[in-house]
Amino acid sequence: MVAYARVAGTGSYLPGNPVSNDDLAARGIETNDEWIVTRTGIRCRHLAAPGVTSSELGLIAAGRALEMAGVAAADLDLIIVATSTPDFIFPSTACLIQGRLGNKNAAAFDVQAVCSGFVYALGIAEKFIASGSHKKALVIGAEVFSRILDWQDRGTCVLFGDGAGAVVLEAAAKPGILATAMHADGSQSGILNVPGQVCGGQVTGDPFLRMDGQAVFKFAVRVLADVAEEVCAAAGIETAAVDWLIPHQANIRIIDATGKKLGVGRERVIVTVDRHGNTSAASVPLALDEAVRDGRIRRGHKVLLEGVGGGFTWGAALLEF
Ligand code: UT7
Repeated sequence: MVAYARVAGTGSYLPGNPVSNDDLAARGIETNDEWIVTRTGIRCRHLAAPGVTSSELGLIAAGRALEMAGVAAADLDLIIVATSTPDFIFPSTACLIQGRLGNKNAAAFDVQAVCSGFVYALGIAEKFIASGSHKKALVIGAEVFSRILDWQDRGTCVLFGDGAGAVVLEAAAKPGILATAMHADGSQSGILNVPGQVCGGQVTGDPFLRMDGQAVFKFAVRVLADVAEEVCAAAGIETAAVDWLIPHQANIRIIDATGKKLGVGRERVIVTVDRHGNTSAASVPLALDEAVRDGRIRRGHKVLLEGVGGGFTWGAALLEF
């Protein structure tokens, strides 16, 4: 039996108070609000307190999504967490969240596709449900990127924030997720990475995020337009006909360039990068939850989610909410 996967609920969580660009400058980073706003659109971000982990952020977002969906944690049969900042090497962040939720039987695992992670995880969950093998999935994007930033590198540390977002997917007779796509090009692994390794009881190599910003920028604009066209073509609709576009929230200039290429005006693009910064795998579900809860996204709307990030990876999911 082939079923549709429908979004039954969304949730999100941001830790602590917003940290402004001026706050970062006051902490001794050689930067200023004007540079950050002009180049990226970012005005503030949330940073988790020391010791607060991705599983803790993800657990709160998951609780909110389950509550909106009216689904009991015990009834989940699949839990997928997209994260590049897991609590541990193992067990997976998904297993930690499963344990805290009190769920015993679901399949639980992490997906590591950096900023495309949530879109990858959503596509995987959709395929489990469409196959008929699973009925109720919890899909989470949760990150504490502040832990892997070099706070001496002003070219990267001002760009990222911490947070989590989640959706509950349920098997349904009607759409649902209409089309998904996932891609990668490992030959581009050098333009965005954290090249450290755990070996012999310590980290060898560089433990911090490194990025060739301009190479990432160009790559992102190209693949975000291509993959949007791919999923819309698969579902038989024009890109300009989507009600809402939710691209990965890394830089307002990338978001605007993508919207322009696709014929989707700013009034139909969900933007949180100004207040959240780049929260990697959490950025898309955070933006989705915000727009669902404030009433912009309503049942029946066509919503296009897009991720792009380290790997290099990229992907999209077109859904009828
Ligand atoms: O999830 C995917 C993750 N990443 C992205 O999507 C990022 C994509 N790339 C970008 O968003 C942009 O490339 C950045 C915002 C990262 C950088 O913007 P840019 O226009 O490419 O700037 P740049 O790196 O070429 O730097 C220009 C200048 C340099 O000074 P000089 O050499 O021209 O004197 C930098 O040192 O800006 C300087 N600079 C800063 N100045 C103030 C770099 N970072 C800062 C800073 N504050 N935070």
